[in-house]
Amino acid sequence: MDSQKHLFNLDQDIHYLNCGSKSPLLKSAEAAAIAALIQARNPFQITPEDFFALPKEVKARFAELINCDPLQVALIPSSSYGFATALGNVSCAPGQHAIVLEDEFPSGYFSLKSWCHKNQAELKVVGPDKEALTQGESWNKNLLDSITPETAVVLMSSIHWMNGLKFDLESIGQKCKTVGAIFIVDGTQSVGAVEMDVKRFKIDALICASYKWLFGSYGIGISYFGHAFDGGQPLEESWMNRTNSQDFGNLTNYDHEYTEDSGRYNVGEMSNFILLPMLNEGLKQINEWTVVEIERYCRELTIPLYEYLKSRNVVLEKESYTSHHLFGLKLPEDIDAELLMDNLQKNRVFVSNRGENLRVSVNVFNTEADIDKLIQVLEASRAS
Ligand SMILES: Cc1ncc(COP(=O)(O)O)c(C=O)c1O
Repeated sequence: MDSQKHLFNLDQDIHYLNCGSKSPLLKSAEAAAIAALIQARNPFQITPEDFFALPKEVKARFAELINCDPLQVALIPSSSYGFATALGNVSCAPGQHAIVLEDEFPSGYFSLKSWCHKNQAELKVVGPDKEALTQGESWNKNLLDSITPETAVVLMSSIHWMNGLKFDLESIGQKCKTVGAIFIVDGTQSVGAVEMDVKRFKIDALICASYKWLFGSYGIGISYFGHAFDGGQPLEESWMNRTNSQDFGNLTNYDHEYTEDSGRYNVGEMSNFILLPMLNEGLKQINEWTVVEIERYCRELTIPLYEYLKSRNVVLEKESYTSHHLFGLKLPEDIDAELLMDNLQKNRVFVSNRGENLRVSVNVFNTEADIDKLIQVLEASRAS
């Protein structure tokens, strides 16, 4: 795949290496949102079928991306909503505990902490060996070792949101199944850029904000709830999640049945007429590009950066634990941090500061010129 920058309206004179913060808008998503706004001038154009048709289409596209039945997909407004929904249906026996990654994203961390508080359960925070030169191997091992028959639930990001460290979801999912723990994954920083297969990884709930790697919008996310959540309790009672909701003339003939499978977990007003068309365009485009190609593109694009870091004696994580689309740069020792910030700004290179990492994230809208510019900036920021 060649760069897909032409499909975005990014300013030409910037180097946006920050999809992990927010993706730029696809031209097609922008057009869909504008069309939806124009349609809102004349609401009579929106038919009862429109309330349900696009959610169905979006769910099918997401299901294709993560290998599940579209009926197991639910629309959510944010990742925290998804975590609250999932955790509200996880039970806890006396003596059981929950597991989270060290430095997990706050939405996941606080959701699980609150679950522990309600259930008087211990929250175990698992990190890498402190003395290890690279983190991947020991972090994965420590996580697997910490999952025991006393584990009620594991909640973790599929890759670490700060540095892109990859976790072995297949082994972790298998261990959770073996001990009977619920496996909740935050896919916000990986789904759309890395292969995701909820069946192979034995994931019980997959929660994604959409405004990063899914090219959606702030305020709308998407999730998967496996059969462990069948028959569960939603966070709220939307009229749209009942089996008779499509019969507008008959809504107060209250139907106590929820729609099939994960339909009960949809947020109220799931047919969000502006944001949903945007997410639809994002998912359509990703499925057209394919995740395999996106990942390959990101990998090839970043080879020169890795070569540069190697030449400067930076210790790099093993490739098997490295994401190609998002990574935390450990900087060469002689980099002057203040000069670097100044040079990034002057050269209009956009990255993120996350903990000790300079987080660089790339996608198909990036070009070789973006990576070259970052390398030039790093080189120009060496203390003399
Ligand atoms: C791993 C991860 N999860 C979730 C989110 C977004 O959370 P929310 O949808 O609750 O705003 C982010 C945003 O940076 C993230 O990095």
